[in-house]
Amino acid sequence: MLKNKGNFFILETEHTSLLLQTEGTAGYLYYGERLSDYTGAEGLLAQTGAPLSLFSQWGKTDFREPSLLIRHADGSVVSDFRLRSAKIAKRVLPEGLPASYGEEKCLRLEFIDAAARLKYVLQYVVYADSDTVAVSSFLTNVGKKTVQIERISSLQLELRGCFSFTSFDGAWGCERHRHSRALNGGVCENASFGGSSSHFRNPFVMLSNAGGCYGFNLVYSGNHREIAEEDDWGRTRLITGINPFDFSWELGEGETFFAPEAVMCYGKTEEETGARMRRFVSRHIVREKWREKERPVLVNNWEGTYFSFTREKILAIAQRAAQAGAELFVLDDGWFGRRDDDCSSLGDWTDYSEKTGGLETLADEIRAMGLSFGIWVEPEMISENSELYRKHPEYCMRVPKREPTRMRNQLMLNLADPQVQGFVFRAVSRVITQTKASYVKWDYNRYMTDCFDKGTRGGEYLHRYMLGLYSVLGKLIERYPKVLFEGCASGGGRFDLGMLRYTPQIWTSDNTDARERIAIQAGTAAGYPQSSMGAHVTASPNEQTGNRNSLYTRFCIACGGVLGYESDLSRATEEELREIAAQIAFYKEYRRVLQFGTYHALGESGRWAGFLTAEGGRAVAVVAAFEKRTYQKSLRVSFAGLDARAIYRVSIVQRDCTLREICVASGDLLNKGSVCVDDMFDTERECNPVYTRMFVLEKITKKALDRELRP
Ligand code: GLA
Repeated sequence: MLKNKGNFFILETEHTSLLLQTEGTAGYLYYGERLSDYTGAEGLLAQTGAPLSLFSQWGKTDFREPSLLIRHADGSVVSDFRLRSAKIAKRVLPEGLPASYGEEKCLRLEFIDAAARLKYVLQYVVYADSDTVAVSSFLTNVGKKTVQIERISSLQLELRGCFSFTSFDGAWGCERHRHSRALNGGVCENASFGGSSSHFRNPFVMLSNAGGCYGFNLVYSGNHREIAEEDDWGRTRLITGINPFDFSWELGEGETFFAPEAVMCYGKTEEETGARMRRFVSRHIVREKWREKERPVLVNNWEGTYFSFTREKILAIAQRAAQAGAELFVLDDGWFGRRDDDCSSLGDWTDYSEKTGGLETLADEIRAMGLSFGIWVEPEMISENSELYRKHPEYCMRVPKREPTRMRNQLMLNLADPQVQGFVFRAVSRVITQTKASYVKWDYNRYMTDCFDKGTRGGEYLHRYMLGLYSVLGKLIERYPKVLFEGCASGGGRFDLGMLRYTPQIWTSDNTDARERIAIQAGTAAGYPQSSMGAHVTASPNEQTGNRNSLYTRFCIACGGVLGYESDLSRATEEELREIAAQIAFYKEYRRVLQFGTYHALGESGRWAGFLTAEGGRAVAVVAAFEKRTYQKSLRVSFAGLDARAIYRVSIVQRDCTLREICVASGDLLNKGSVCVDDMFDTERECNPVYTRMFVLEKITKKALDRELRP
């Protein structure tokens, strides 16, 4: 809810209030738990001396990192934007960029720099149901002189007090590990430089202290930068937006630049903040068609075959997939051009018929087995050994007369060029139409280097690339609204809200080792819903780490996201296949809970980790212990998020996925107390290094309980 009260505006969600002063100096008055009474809010800002600013400009007395920096025609960088109006209005969507949806109105603040003839607009959109506020901004040149935007952030929040800054960092194969550090009067930076949101620093960050936790994310997939700075007045500033490094945008007469949208929320705890972010993503980022829609259980051939497969092999895997109850078969890399390894054919999106025996009929045969058909593409790339490169060397991203850098033996296409965008759109459309694919895995396996386009001004390239990518993705989902796109970037290298707007799920990591996936998935789930995370059961020993884990353990961990299997199922034993079939049947039965339930992280640092997800009267929990027993201490597990007033029947999920009841207890007791799980781990074939157990907790009525207890 948005309302005006005297000289301030109230932005209210179900559980939070955000108060903005909009007269005199505009600024934040309050952001936190929802207030029941706003008396006295006027003038709060004036009393404090140091205002909490909505954005920051350079050249006057604010010497912290600015959110807005403009170089004027005379070379100066001094700006002096003053508030001109504040009103509730229809929001303006950022042109060419993905944005949240579901709310038309916003609080619109207009600022004018009269000398420079520039207009800066800030928009606050309130999503009451997910306790989040989306913020966007744009700058219009209403004068005649061209200016250069050196930085334009999406969101600035200022708070009083000291905070710790939490980011989710990593590398290929170990994405989004949680790290926190105290600001202690300093600056923390979280930024990406390689042209995408990156494996290294995810744009989701948090600021927390004893008073609560603020979460922030950016609806963008390119270079981003978040900084948190504590100043000498005890204020903490958080800025998120396009990374200003190598960014500079020329804004001529009448032109407007849109900054990507950002989102923020407040919760009393990190858990609550995470839950609000996850709800926001599920309801206001993931596109309408796939909004809270159950995702298919898939089988993908990549780790099972890599590039060496035949039609017979693919059909044999698909046959087993169908037998086990999977719903979708995904043909991964290697089906096009002359692609036998990663040195060729990217760009040649035509059937490698010697391998597939005819792609269209292969897809038909797979469909005849009762599966839908999905396919892998990596459309932003080009191999030098390809027909496309031989015909159109000018399509690739490189600087003339310089040797381009190869990563994974490939170059990138120059998506800043509309002609190249047209090529990519047509190529992917052709693949979808020809194969009638209902799913597309959109991969992106390198970082950007040698950025250049002769029609693009320096400093604008990286953002123009993103606009090109979003334009192609936008047209594709418009043309194929029912197709499920899954994002991927060497695993989770582009896991962000920008991509999630087009690709409702993303392959979380190339590392599929159960033990290592625990931290990767927990870090990802801190800000993204389970339904956005692709999670597959792969072979043991694991391809990446060599660790061995039972099929049961691998399944338990993959239940933390959208379940898939990725191994050569044609070689699975009958016993394994029976186990997989039972797992898939179980997953389907609890799919709503697992994909869309309210998620709670569980665990005790160093000893065990897990999660519980609950929806309606049911919950599923997974517990993974790193040691079977630690000294004499037995392992006790506390659940979380259960309805305190309800009674639950707690069962363990056995290897064959049947349930064995272990106790009946109140939600309150299960949340606050603990259950000893020492003897519950699956020991038969379990081997190092992780021990898992899955639980189902189902509410039972008092009446049913009495009936059961009756002798
Ligand atoms: C990337 C993806 C994998 C697989 C390969 C194919 O590494 O993350 O899942 O699709 O590419 O080359």
